[in-house]
Amino acid sequence: MAKASSTPQRKLVVANWKMNPATLERAERLFLESKDAAKQLRRVRTVIAPPTLYLSALTKHYRGARLALGAQDAFWEKTGSYTGEVSAAMLAAMGADYVIVGHSERRAQGEKNEEVAKKARAVLKAGMTPIICVGEDERDDEGEYVNALRKELRESIAGIARAGLSRTYIAYEPRWAIGGSSENALTPEGVHTTSLILKKELAELFDTKMGTNAHILYGGSAEADNAGALVRDGKVEGLLVGHASLQANSFSKLLRAVEEASR
Ligand code: PGA
Repeated sequence: MAKASSTPQRKLVVANWKMNPATLERAERLFLESKDAAKQLRRVRTVIAPPTLYLSALTKHYRGARLALGAQDAFWEKTGSYTGEVSAAMLAAMGADYVIVGHSERRAQGEKNEEVAKKARAVLKAGMTPIICVGEDERDDEGEYVNALRKELRESIAGIARAGLSRTYIAYEPRWAIGGSSENALTPEGVHTTSLILKKELAELFDTKMGTNAHILYGGSAEADNAGALVRDGKVEGLLVGHASLQANSFSKLLRAVEEASR
């Protein structure tokens, strides 16, 4: 297993392909083109999270320090009567190093914080790095969303021990910003402020060191033209990217922008 998951100096860009592309052949093409861009970067580690079905075919093409594979979800039990589920251990055996858990599109289907935490713990136990997604549905002028966000974080990391949490990524994805174009993203200043809120929550739950060293990613309408500013001025450790990772051209530009912003 690639052990670069705890290299905080490298920015992490996670490509969440969601349920795309439609065929393995296209997935392989997109992967190989993304790999060509990812391999050139010294300050960025790229993670491709394809549909689970494509995972083993893609790991055969490449797996290394600059490019790793991830899954978009995992189940907490190892084996058993859980129709349709895939365990964290199965994903690890298939070559995944990272697993996204608690994405808002799964939460919209009813996934609860408690389940997200169970999944994250199983991912850690299987030796992989969880990327736990949190984010408010909408913002209100009174700042109530901050309390909701803190609660979501607290409950989504429940039961994770200090050692596990220190290698976990928290992806802050405001739901209202997902799936748009770059002008729909949160501003870099907003990203920074919110990442401090999350860090403060972790500091209160654990201690200052845990808060300061927490790995925070931003996701939601990150594209090539705002990626650099989101990372540099948002002061986050990387990005979770949806639609902009589905075209090799735009994704390569985004990766290079993050590399440039990390100098
Ligand atoms: P987007 O998706 O980049 O298309 O906004 C991000 C996500 O859903 O993780």
